[in-house]
Amino acid sequence: MATTAEYGLGEQTFPRGWFMVADADELEGTKPLAVRYFGRDMVLYRGESGALHMVDAYCPHMGAHLARNTTSYVIRDGKQVEGDSIRCPYHGWRFGPDGRCNQIPYSPQKVPGAAKLESWLVKERAGCIWMWWDPEGGEPEYDLPEFAEYGAPHWVNWKMDRLGLLNSHPVEIVDNMADRAHFEPIHGTQDVILFENDFEDHKVVQRMSSGHRTLSAEGGEPLFTDTWYTGPGILISQMAGQFPSIILITHTPVDDGVVKVWHGLLVKVAGAVPSEEEIGMARAYQQASCDAFSQDFEVWANKRPCFNPMAVLGDGPIGKLRIWYRQFYNPRARAQEFRARVNGTIITRGTLNAPWDDQQVA
Ligand code: FES
Ligand SMILES: [Fe+2]
Repeated sequence: MATTAEYGLGEQTFPRGWFMVADADELEGTKPLAVRYFGRDMVLYRGESGALHMVDAYCPHMGAHLARNTTSYVIRDGKQVEGDSIRCPYHGWRFGPDGRCNQIPYSPQKVPGAAKLESWLVKERAGCIWMWWDPEGGEPEYDLPEFAEYGAPHWVNWKMDRLGLLNSHPVEIVDNMADRAHFEPIHGTQDVILFENDFEDHKVVQRMSSGHRTLSAEGGEPLFTDTWYTGPGILISQMAGQFPSIILITHTPVDDGVVKVWHGLLVKVAGAVPSEEEIGMARAYQQASCDAFSQDFEVWANKRPCFNPMAVLGDGPIGKLRIWYRQFYNPRARAQEFRARVNGTIITRGTLNAPWDDQQVA
């Protein structure tokens, strides 16, 4: 597993941004969930108000794990979450959603100021739970995507595929955005009409139009996809066609050089309230999309790290993409520096709309 430092991405081990941390289905009632991201153990829980909270896993008193306990009477008595506070199973200290200890049940002493868990901003949206990670502790610098189609009439919601851990640095996944040349061998794309990337501050966009060996009929309409990252960990791809669909691929650093990955697909159907049959069709469609993503996944799971791609004409702007990606690994004050180096549109040649000119071919 190769590290952020080895890729030379920046001074922060983990990128700043919005990241998925759980499928909402993983949380049952107010039962806390142990999770690990950004090289630390954390606990996600829902308060009695329904609000979500994310705090350090380890109690500042004597280090007990707040969520990995089944036998303490705090847990057996169902007393762990009270209001929006969470109680440690070991000696019963209680912490508010801001992480501050707000009760030590047996001590007459004032709660020490250092009795505090770190806490992070979390949001629930589109059936997923997201957190804002910033090693500098700042407020979000951009919004989480709206996912407006989730739950809207005519759309079948995704049921997220939990693809688990990948022993790969996330930069290798992000590379895909600019990787023009892998589409034919890996995905069976053919007759690429257009391949372009837009770099827009914290977003990077890929627009592609092409045929496909199996997905598009001969002489039929080409496929058009509009794909973008909102920050370093959330990819959304819109595909037009008989059933318009929206792919979500999202990945979150767990440790340096290890990511957790999810995939989901929203599908638009005729019925305002999708029928059983339409839901079944959407599930099959999501499976086909997940299978296509698995083609990338298999490569990542087995490749060696690539610190410096050996670029040739026709590869797509992978070097530029990595400069874009560095904005998230450096202090926010430097983000503009990286954006200024890449913002704009790059068209990759070697497509029907942008063939090579004679000089390049020579
Ligand atoms: S270790 Fe948590 S209350 Fe003592
Ligand atoms: Fe791919």
